[in-house]
Amino acid sequence: TALAQPASGLLGFKPVPVSMDDTVVVPEGYRFQILGAAGEPISGDMPAYRPGANTGAEQEHQIGQHHDGIHFFPIDGSSEDGLIAVNHEYIEPRFLHADKPGYKGIAADDNFVALDADGKRDDDEVRMEVAAHGVSVYRTTRQADGTWAVVADPRNRKVAAVTPIEIAGPVRGSSHVVTKFSPDGTRTRGTLNNCAHGVTPWNTYLTAEENWAGYFANTDQVDQKPDLPREHARYGVSTNPQGGRYGWHLAKSGADEYVRFDASTKGASAAEDYRNEPNAFGWIVEIDPFDPDATPVKRTALGRFAHEGVVFAPVVEGAPIVCYSGDDARFEYVYKFVSDAVYVPGQTDGSILDAGTLYAAKFNDDGTGEWLALAPGRNGLTPANGFADLADILVNTRLAADQAGATKMDRPEWGTVDPGTGEVYFALTNNSRRTQAQVDAVNPRAGNNFGQIVRWRYANTDHTRASFEWDLFVIAGGKATSALFNGGALGDDSAFACPDGLWCDDNRRLWIQTDMGDIGPDYEGPLKEFGMNAMLAADPATGEIRRFLTGPWGQETTGVVTTPDGRTMFVNFQHPGAHGSAEDFAAGKYGSGFPDYDGSVPRSATVVITREDGGVIGA
Ligand code: FEO
Ligand code: CA
Ligand code: CA
Ligand code: CA
Repeated sequence: TALAQPASGLLGFKPVPVSMDDTVVVPEGYRFQILGAAGEPISGDMPAYRPGANTGAEQEHQIGQHHDGIHFFPIDGSSEDGLIAVNHEYIEPRFLHADKPGYKGIAADDNFVALDADGKRDDDEVRMEVAAHGVSVYRTTRQADGTWAVVADPRNRKVAAVTPIEIAGPVRGSSHVVTKFSPDGTRTRGTLNNCAHGVTPWNTYLTAEENWAGYFANTDQVDQKPDLPREHARYGVSTNPQGGRYGWHLAKSGADEYVRFDASTKGASAAEDYRNEPNAFGWIVEIDPFDPDATPVKRTALGRFAHEGVVFAPVVEGAPIVCYSGDDARFEYVYKFVSDAVYVPGQTDGSILDAGTLYAAKFNDDGTGEWLALAPGRNGLTPANGFADLADILVNTRLAADQAGATKMDRPEWGTVDPGTGEVYFALTNNSRRTQAQVDAVNPRAGNNFGQIVRWRYANTDHTRASFEWDLFVIAGGKATSALFNGGALGDDSAFACPDGLWCDDNRRLWIQTDMGDIGPDYEGPLKEFGMNAMLAADPATGEIRRFLTGPWGQETTGVVTTPDGRTMFVNFQHPGAHGSAEDFAAGKYGSGFPDYDGSVPRSATVVITREDGGVIGA
């Protein structure tokens, strides 16, 4: 009905239809270009991209794979010159190494790597994979012809899965993170599976470690040693000796930076092996994009889980810093951190994130909610219940939230804050395993294939408060399966499923990105009606939603930001072609042509979107 989605004036573009094509589609009057595709050089002697054939040493100076969270840091406030920081969540080895021995015809599994005859991995392949993870920082500038280009700059760098990183906050120096590399428990190497991101009020980049557990193997259990420690087991560290997502611990050389992904007990003490290495992952990591010499820092007070991303509440001078993060796994939680110290413009830096209180959310069925403190002595977090101190609580954040009785959610993904109202939005992407008996008001569907977006608000927009009120902004789906907060439903121009990326821009347009998985043209299943993954824009006040962008085969649409003037937008397409079969791969068909469309392997990339009339994106 017309009442369902009143025209708002906030959304000025003509919506695009559901797409089944291997293309990028933007609204009439809009155009796009590719920027910063995987393999593009950014540093060193700028080694050229060679599809499927680059070396590890080259990849260390090239943009990584599987772009996700992204931010544009203006240089001197410019909307035409800035530093991009972009996450690389994981890799597709068959595309990364397409022209190397053992990869032709390899199984169509994004984890699958070629082992040598001795069951070991080629070191240069491992070096390349490690370098293709993490975060790329590079300068980009608008050229005279209006296009954007990667520009060589001393600030361009990679923070990869081996880069030295400081551990800060309550877990620093604790026994939980003592390793052979860092016997005093103050450092580790690398950041892993960087999904979404955050931007601090002091203009640094935060990257979130999501599915890091899959990179480790701990064979203690199969070796009849004690059961896996809870800080491994609760997060899903594998007990398979071949486990570890890409088998980095099987590197032929036995190099220390690779064998550490085997977290089994080998030495006489934790300082002699890597039994604790997984405890150094699952954190929010701070990177200063403007200082290439600054060591990144893991901020442990924000908790350890499958961090999707992190989003800050608007800062208030003289008040604590508040930020939110979701744990993207089925039946996991939404968290909030409130700093002990207060925000002082020009003085506050990342160290304010090292002391404060972490909370987990409880969503009551009556539309109220409360934040449960995960702190020593509160909500059952006592030594008698197995929580020795704050470091123990933080390393075992999921168990602490279990103990506190937080609400088990349908996979919390990105969050964002509406700058107009201070309301917080979170995407709950889906949860096919929720049963009817597990349904509650905030997770209202059993077998939830389509997801929903929750939002909450505080009295006096005070984000430090322990209580809040919430509602569901939209229950996603098609005409027959969706519901908007205003009583309407989605239609041809707005149907979508599996919200993941969320970003409310300065004009209050709420951008919604979908991740329905590796959807290709041959997909048959409950998500078929939604076509390829897409991005939509919503008016948070009226509920109007319009489809803005559709992407190529196999990708998910993830990561969105504009320049300060709102006239240039950066959006990522992750893992194009991921749905492709082993048979097609063996025949040299890669599931998608994006972005080169020249018969070479597909690769993740950023697209830059502008308007032909130079106007504000979405208006
Ligand atoms: Fe990496 Fe939860 O998406
Ligand atoms: Ca995501
Ligand atoms: Ca997702
Ligand atoms: Ca993904």
